[in-house]
Amino acid sequence: MTLIHGGQLNKVAEQFNLDTDGWLDLSTGISPNVYPINDLLLKLDESIWRDLPQHNSQLFSIASNYYQTDNLMVTNGSQSVIQLLPHLWQRSTPNKTRVWLPQVGYQEHRKAWQQAGFNLCFYQQLPAIEKIKPHDIVIAINPNNPTTERIEQNLLLQLHQQINTNAGWLIVDEAFIDCYPKSASMMPHTNLDNLIVLRSFGKFFGLAGIRLGFVAANKKQLQLLQQHLGEWSVNGPAIAIAEQALADHAWHKQQQKILSKQSKALHCLLLKYFDSLKIDQSDLFIRVRTDAAQIIFEQLCRQKIYARLLDEKNAIRFGLAKINELARLERALDKVFKSSLSIIN
Ligand SMILES: Cc1ncc(COP(=O)(O)O)c(C=O)c1O
Repeated sequence: MTLIHGGQLNKVAEQFNLDTDGWLDLSTGISPNVYPINDLLLKLDESIWRDLPQHNSQLFSIASNYYQTDNLMVTNGSQSVIQLLPHLWQRSTPNKTRVWLPQVGYQEHRKAWQQAGFNLCFYQQLPAIEKIKPHDIVIAINPNNPTTERIEQNLLLQLHQQINTNAGWLIVDEAFIDCYPKSASMMPHTNLDNLIVLRSFGKFFGLAGIRLGFVAANKKQLQLLQQHLGEWSVNGPAIAIAEQALADHAWHKQQQKILSKQSKALHCLLLKYFDSLKIDQSDLFIRVRTDAAQIIFEQLCRQKIYARLLDEKNAIRFGLAKINELARLERALDKVFKSSLSIIN
């Protein structure tokens, strides 16, 4: 099962017979504003590059503060944990069970559980508490990518209570939650059993390339996960960058403000072309539901603007652009709507 993701510009450029120069890549939910690392990289001691990474209590204490929990482990991004979770379940509970997944959401969750042979059920709204059976696993993506839907924390806590009583798991993927108030996160509740929370580092900090993330769960689950991930799965320079970035509270505030401004500006531009009821906005990406998604995607690509055509082909996801890049997107959309007006309307 090969999944399509944002990024991978090489492939898309090739598909349209274009070179990879000069694209405006809006295909992911990764912040366009990158945490400034150039000075830090110059200052890093040579030993960071030479030595094998070691357990780092400074990173642990900074990360615990940022994520509001001590039940924490650093990983090389959420993706590797997503792939491991079915195996972790099989190690701790021999039963193959039902896994509840959002109907529309990051498809790697579905792929991991499906490939491991679990029964899948799909939901539009979180499953009602009465529906939870013994050993059920529920995956929640909060906020959801690509729908942008958010789930209230009290709903997740109630659901978790039922799942815990039934010896299942609640897995909450919070890859895009950093723009929301800290109280929206389930991280502080990970002292509870049977709750696993995933955090991506790359989206909010604009550093997806360093492959870093965190997982929070009870100590026993973290130990099992550590055994599966093995030694040195996270590289030393990434740890050094995270130590500085996670402690930089002034930058977090500024980043939240800038992202919110960029998201509003993109939303405002999209309103020129699409019905407001069809636009779903978050602070790291915007989804537009339209029957013309495929045409718009293709015509933007021909102008070297890469948005993400969603798997169902009924929507496009736009990652945020820097404000000075929006004029280019506007010109391109104008052209799309002028040349294909009769098809789009
Ligand atoms: C909802 C969601 N979870 C997890 C991931 C994987 O993120 P990471 O870069 O931390 O592996 C993605 C990547 O796009 C995502 O959209």
